[in-house]
Amino acid sequence: MTTTQKIAQQMTTFGKGILAADESIGTMSSRLEDAGVNPTAQNRRDYRELLVTAADLADGVSGIIFCDETLNQTFADGTPFPEACRARGILPGIKVDTGAKPCPGLPGETITEGLDGLAGRLADYARSGAAFAKWRAVFTITDNAPSRGSIVANANALARYAAACQEAGLVPIVEPEVLMAGAHGIGRCAEVTAAVHQTVREHLALLNVDLAGIVLKPNMVTEGEDNSHPATPEEVAAATVEVLRSWPGDLAGVAFLSGGQPAERATANLAAMQSHDTPWPLTFSFGRALVSPALAAWHGEEDRVGDGQAALSAHVAANAAAVRMRGQLQSV
Ligand code: 13P
Repeated sequence: MTTTQKIAQQMTTFGKGILAADESIGTMSSRLEDAGVNPTAQNRRDYRELLVTAADLADGVSGIIFCDETLNQTFADGTPFPEACRARGILPGIKVDTGAKPCPGLPGETITEGLDGLAGRLADYARSGAAFAKWRAVFTITDNAPSRGSIVANANALARYAAACQEAGLVPIVEPEVLMAGAHGIGRCAEVTAAVHQTVREHLALLNVDLAGIVLKPNMVTEGEDNSHPATPEEVAAATVEVLRSWPGDLAGVAFLSGGQPAERATANLAAMQSHDTPWPLTFSFGRALVSPALAAWHGEEDRVGDGQAALSAHVAANAAAVRMRGQLQSV
């Protein structure tokens, strides 16, 4: 087994998920402001330390994704974040894309950037202790989007990133996200997600990316957020697994993003997935569905750190319990 295959297996180990705490400085700052917290580098650091030091986090989380700022910060006691994570049995990861930017030639669509100088940055991140990386491509559904051009351009960038990660000994989280924005039905989301995945697979193959050494981070297949007929967890699970079935069995694992779904809905959908027999684990790599309740409970107040951690622990435990239902269903 290669190094990246081993890490990918650790990341998708049974009963655990991955915590996405890699909001960019801009996004994290506005979330802090919304919660009434001053958006300083110190407060962003304090918040991430609160997350990592939540009691028993490693029971439900195999890895945490950070942004560049956090990876280079230290705990209050001076321990670098990657070292502090590893000491707790949690793999540190790093978001390496530089964001979704307007795509030249395709008005209204985006291309995720960050390939320039990537090999050098990956080598630096590996030296800093990162075990894996993340790159997010974004697709918005409209009547005539995403276009073939945006799917191909983003799939190619994802594949170049993934190949570069594996050469640097880091596991790439490959995240093609079809956004929930819109009033479309679940069928349209399924169609778009399937088309995106097929092109991503083709480009990964063209660059000889080893699927056993990646973690796929897709959206769940749902109706658009402005659609007034919400699909049930069983419908979401069936539609999502049907799209995923095109991935070969050697893919290391699937870890879903939450995409702005309410935390409880994301957990219920994840639980419903587990009744489907798939060759790869289906787990979580949630951001908002795990950290929003923690941020609201903390509120930037020193004497409420415990409340923030309790909120995070409760949501991690609920999602870990959801993915462990797979074992219960199989052992019945
Ligand atoms: P959400 O779960 O909030 O969608 O975030 C996951 C993520 O990593 C987005 O890139």
